[in-house]
Amino acid sequence: MSKDTFYVTTPIYYPNDKLHIGHTYTTTAADTIIKFKELQGYETEFITGSDEHGQKLQQAAQEHGMEPLEYIDGIVTSFKDLWAKLKVDYTEFVRTTTPEHKEDVQYIFKKLYDKGDIYKDKYEGYYCTPCETFWKERELNENDNCPDCDRDVEWMEEESYFFKMSKYEDQLLDFLDSNPDFIQPSKRRSEMINFIKDGLEDLCVSRASFDWGVPVPVDDEHVIYVWFDALISYLTGIDFQRNQDKFNDYWPADIHIVGKDILRFHTIIWPSILMAADMPLPKQVFGHGFLLVEGGKMSKSKGNVIDPVKLIDDFGVDAVRYYLLREIAFGTDGSYSTESFIQRINSDLANDLGNLLNRTVAMVEKYFDGQIPVGKVETDYDADLESVAQDAFARIEENLEQLQFSTALEELWRLIRRTNKYIDQTKPWVLAKDDSKRDKLGRVLYNLMDNLRRIAISLVPFLPEAPAKMWKQIGIKEDLADQTWEDVKTKGGLEAGLEINKGAPIFPRIDIEEYYANLEAEDTKAVADKEEEEMTEQDYISFDEFGQLDLRVAEVLEVEKIEGSDKLLKVQVELGAEKRQLVAGISKHYQPDELTGKKIVMIANMEPATIFGVESNGMILAASNDEGDLTVTTVDRDIASGAKVK
Ligand code: MSP
Repeated sequence: MSKDTFYVTTPIYYPNDKLHIGHTYTTTAADTIIKFKELQGYETEFITGSDEHGQKLQQAAQEHGMEPLEYIDGIVTSFKDLWAKLKVDYTEFVRTTTPEHKEDVQYIFKKLYDKGDIYKDKYEGYYCTPCETFWKERELNENDNCPDCDRDVEWMEEESYFFKMSKYEDQLLDFLDSNPDFIQPSKRRSEMINFIKDGLEDLCVSRASFDWGVPVPVDDEHVIYVWFDALISYLTGIDFQRNQDKFNDYWPADIHIVGKDILRFHTIIWPSILMAADMPLPKQVFGHGFLLVEGGKMSKSKGNVIDPVKLIDDFGVDAVRYYLLREIAFGTDGSYSTESFIQRINSDLANDLGNLLNRTVAMVEKYFDGQIPVGKVETDYDADLESVAQDAFARIEENLEQLQFSTALEELWRLIRRTNKYIDQTKPWVLAKDDSKRDKLGRVLYNLMDNLRRIAISLVPFLPEAPAKMWKQIGIKEDLADQTWEDVKTKGGLEAGLEINKGAPIFPRIDIEEYYANLEAEDTKAVADKEEEEMTEQDYISFDEFGQLDLRVAEVLEVEKIEGSDKLLKVQVELGAEKRQLVAGISKHYQPDELTGKKIVMIANMEPATIFGVESNGMILAASNDEGDLTVTTVDRDIASGAKVK
């Protein structure tokens, strides 16, 4: 019998740069949905990774003077560090440079080749290296650039292998027709359908002008096109070819979560490849929107890249994940701003959630010596509170099934705010004054604590730290990790009599003024540190810098004073086979004939200059002190002129 499984993927990221908060957005979403599915009792797989082949990476490595893998390894480590910091629990990190992946890519390529779906021809068209995408002339934008990123495209003419994608046009349209939910959000579906209806062309799937890729199994001169290679990572991640049972349990994937910019690869190219390979298609591809900064795309050149590591260091992982999931509806574009970020932490996390926990735990401590009471007498507000809770949990479930994280959190916060309101309605501090209301007071506090338990479990998919802190304060002994979505829906699941552990507020408020002041102080310190570092650096030159000086021994042949100057001498030297004329400011220290016949040291590649109308092609080295003494640098043994000084 097959298991209840759930398989989610993020794209595998290009390791050519640091990850920014935009990449963090996809991975947080995937991690949240997978943790929710785990709460529901599914066995899960969650794949992320790095897309390590292609021309762009080969070039980037070359620019850094490194071998591709050496360059990539360092970046991949920083990706993994970021995912660890973000508390992302992927099951597999696929690297496309592993032998397993290579084997899978070659297997699929060969299968399509043997079937006659891959053939050799000549590619003539444009290529966008940053996007690793082929473009036809008619597809370029108004600037004749890449329609996706507006950067320059290169004209390419090379012998290539082609995949007969056009053959799958009708089959793909039929599939999309009978699987209306395949492309999400639905507004992106018609865009893709129109693209297919415009006519699918065969896809170039190999490159021959560089070698950083998986070799074409039937032709060593070619490497497989990086997108053909990358998409197969979704199979590699669940041990395609190596563990048939696992593969059968998890394929087809439940959701590929991707950014809207790469939806075409996932909803047209990928399904066509799978159809050609006679394999089932994924159940859904979700193309989310972009996280923008001040309405624009993040880019290094604009200097508006938000570093997720810094954000987590400053505000904590819960705040970052909460903001990403809550602020923007998944599927639409949205803008990041520090103001809205801090506003969210203060109002939702510190105020609504943090206060609910604090107030409740403080009242249990005050009125019941820190022991969760039983309380049998219901209040007039209990039924409504429970109906809001049931409604919220049902809607959270519904919304998470659609990857609507923001609405799901809104529902959860509706319950949190309703629970806060329950305190205001039931007024425990008034009940506490009347001994005959003790059972009612106990009931109110029990309901509050029980709702905190349910809220803590519901938060597990979203926030990695706060639920455990809440759990500890509530005092529940069982492991939070063993809780299920059923436990959330079950009213009264909290054991009475438990000892609570009142702790510090889980979300302290952030003072925005103070935050900006600290940032400014950090900036000032960074500038000062940089200046200091540069000054220290200025004390040294590198070996390469030293190597730029062409220092030589030269023999002085003839010296004469330059008319009109009391400082300058015109010096003729022999530099190996060459003769040179120099101007030297040493007339006050040397009589012309004192120098003749000496072997001195000079800079032979000094930029030529004309001084007092006399041409100078080099510079004599001399040492001087504060008292004004000067001595020309000479050599103390016999060595031929022209000898290099190093
Ligand atoms: N390597 C390919 C994916 C291959 S998957 C078989 C790739 N990598 S990428 O590193 O350029 O981008 C990875 C993902 O990050 C894409 O889904 C892209 O949409 C997403 N994002 C990049 N910048 C983003 C934002 N500013 N906001 C949200 N997502 C963004 O494409």
